Amino acid sequence: MSSLMLGACRLEACEADITTLAVDAVVNAANTSLLGGGGVDGAIHRAAGPDLLRECATLGGCATGDAKRTRGYRLPAKFVIHAVGPVWRGGAHAEAESLASCYRRSLELAREVDCASIAFPAISCGVYRFPAEQAVRIAIDSVVDALPASPRMTWVVFACFDEPMLRLYEAELARR
Ligand code: AR6
Repeated sequence: MSSLMLGACRLEACEADITTLAVDAVVNAANTSLLGGGGVDGAIHRAAGPDLLRECATLGGCATGDAKRTRGYRLPAKFVIHAVGPVWRGGAHAEAESLASCYRRSLELAREVDCASIAFPAISCGVYRFPAEQAVRIAIDSVVDALPASPRMTWVVFACFDEPMLRLYEAELARR
C-alpha cells in the first residue's frame, strides 16, 4: 500500500468498497439531481438506507464541480459528501477544472464539520468516462493543494474499486 505524509495527514490508496470504510466522511460520485444512480452512488444509497435519499431530496440538486453534504445514516461514515463530477466530453469543456473543484469543495464541506478522515472514490472515472490517469493526477494534486486549509484532516483515502485503478493511484503517490 502506497502512502504519502503531508504534515500530519496521511494520503493513501486502497482497494475497497467505499461503503465499508470507517472514516468521518465518504465522498459520493453523484449526478446533478442528487437522487441516486448506479456505480458508487447506487452502492452508497443501498448501504446508507432510504433516509439518505430523503435528505438528498431536500437539497435542490447540485451543480457540476460542486458538492453537498448529508448525514451517513447506516454507513460507518458520519457524513456523505455528494460531489458531482464532469461528464468527459473530450477535455475542452473545463472537465479538469470541474473535477479539481469537486475535490476542493469536498474537503471544504468536510472541514465545516471537523472531519479528520475522508474517503474519495475515483470521481467521474466510471460512466462519466474521464480518462483515469489524468483523473488520478487531478485528484491527488487537488487534495495536496487544499490540505493546508484543513489542518484537522489526518487521513485521506482514495478508495479504488479495482486493481488497475489502485495501481494508478499508487504510481502517482509514489512519484511525490
Ligand atoms: N466503492 C468504491 N469505488 C466504486 C464503487 C464502490 N462501491 N462502485 C464503483 N466504484 P461511477 P462517475 C468506482 O460510475 O463516473 C452514477 O450513476 C468505479 O469503478 O460510480 O462519477 C451517478 O448517479 C469508478 O472507478 O461514477 C452519476 O449519474 C468510480 O467509482 C454517475 O454514475 C466512479 O464510477 C457518475 O459517474
